[in-house]
Amino acid sequence: MATPASAWPDDPAAMRAAALAFDLKRLEPRFLDDPYPLYRALRENDPVHPMPDGSYFLSRYDDCVAVYRDAEIWSSDKRVDFRPNFGESLLYEHHTTSLVFNDPPYHTRVRRLLAPAFTPRALKALQSRVEALVDRLLDAITAHGRCDLIDDFASAIPVQLIGDMLGVPQNERGPLRGWSLAILGALEPVLSPEQRARGIAAVAEFKAYLADLVARRRREGSDDESEILSILIKASEFSGGDGAEERLSKLELLHNCIFLLNAGHETTTNLIGNGIDLLLRHPEALEELRREPALIDTAVEEFLRLESSNQLGNRRATRDTVLGGVALPSGSYVHIGIGAANRDPAQFADPERLDLRRQPNRHLAFGTGIHACAGMSLARMEGVVAIGRFVQRFAAIERDGAPVRGGRARFRGFLRYPLRVG
Ligand code: HEM
Repeated sequence: MATPASAWPDDPAAMRAAALAFDLKRLEPRFLDDPYPLYRALRENDPVHPMPDGSYFLSRYDDCVAVYRDAEIWSSDKRVDFRPNFGESLLYEHHTTSLVFNDPPYHTRVRRLLAPAFTPRALKALQSRVEALVDRLLDAITAHGRCDLIDDFASAIPVQLIGDMLGVPQNERGPLRGWSLAILGALEPVLSPEQRARGIAAVAEFKAYLADLVARRRREGSDDESEILSILIKASEFSGGDGAEERLSKLELLHNCIFLLNAGHETTTNLIGNGIDLLLRHPEALEELRREPALIDTAVEEFLRLESSNQLGNRRATRDTVLGGVALPSGSYVHIGIGAANRDPAQFADPERLDLRRQPNRHLAFGTGIHACAGMSLARMEGVVAIGRFVQRFAAIERDGAPVRGGRARFRGFLRYPLRVG
């Protein structure tokens, strides 16, 4: 299958002009379709790129790593930043209470309490569930001979897994995906009134649902060691007792559970969708993987690098600093260009190439530093099981119509991806 011609000009001067004019708040369709030529022009011409709203876009690997690694200079606290879009709403309450948008000491406390859910033992317990789920989904797809890669496969896996981690009963999982999409959709650089309203309604419904689930779990208990909800309830005000400063308040517990679903849902869906898309666009790589299934571990790292599901991170400077030779005053807001950094030739040889054997591969798809993705082992395991089994199950995989991209800057993936398989 041929890769479509880029909509970007070949002319370096035109690309330089496009880079200098780049504004995350005024994105063109060709950027949402294929941001990489522009990322390259930014790296080469304006790696610490000022934008009209006063923020900066970072596109070089070393600059992005420098920001991630220095949590004292580069704050994750978003109380100031979320005010204009979210006001006093529940979206504000949610996003400013989740650990990812906070600094120590609150961040350290929540991260420590979450840790038992992400031990190798918990991961092992979850892996057999993922394998069984993937095989069930593949059986259903085999029976039909066609599927939508996103709806029928990629999105079903993380939602079920986090449903298991939170102990959400099977017959109550229906709304989870919609809530998560609505809450994360509200993080786009430009927010429509409809997106805002959907996000607020989703937080309200999800919060009420979880409060009820917590009440039931407290009554009934759980002996499932991988169930994060029970672990967090024990570590929260819901259980009373001493050590209040180490505990989670009720609100903190609810919002961090909501965040877990959001953090692990769309990102992992997109890892699976983007990985299979890359293989369909590179039939020689697909064949290589079929011949040598053990390549799946390094292949998943390469999918994460080349088409990172999460393309942007943000930080704000707590003091005057210098980045990539540019002086930035205290208060400067930066966009960490994960997708751009992951194709920086200073870090990755032949960075535009899909190389299933690439090693080392120190990509930034999971960030790095104190906020590095807590669920990265889980996400990797899901990607390995899902993509590995999908390509081994079907000898023929073909597009059955044009895929539809999500059309968003922060989360890169597909909304629909019709396939014929056999
Ligand atoms: C391919 C899938 C995934 C990708 C690409 C991804 C990416 C990321 C990134 C880039 C961050 C850092 C954010 C920052 O520093 O600003 C992050 C944080 C986080 N992720 Fe993931 N993630 C994935 C899957 C998951 C899963 C499956 C879970 C759990 C179920 C999870 C839980 C978290 C948590 C709890 C944090 C916050 C860590 C902290 O603030 O200390 N993620 N993720």
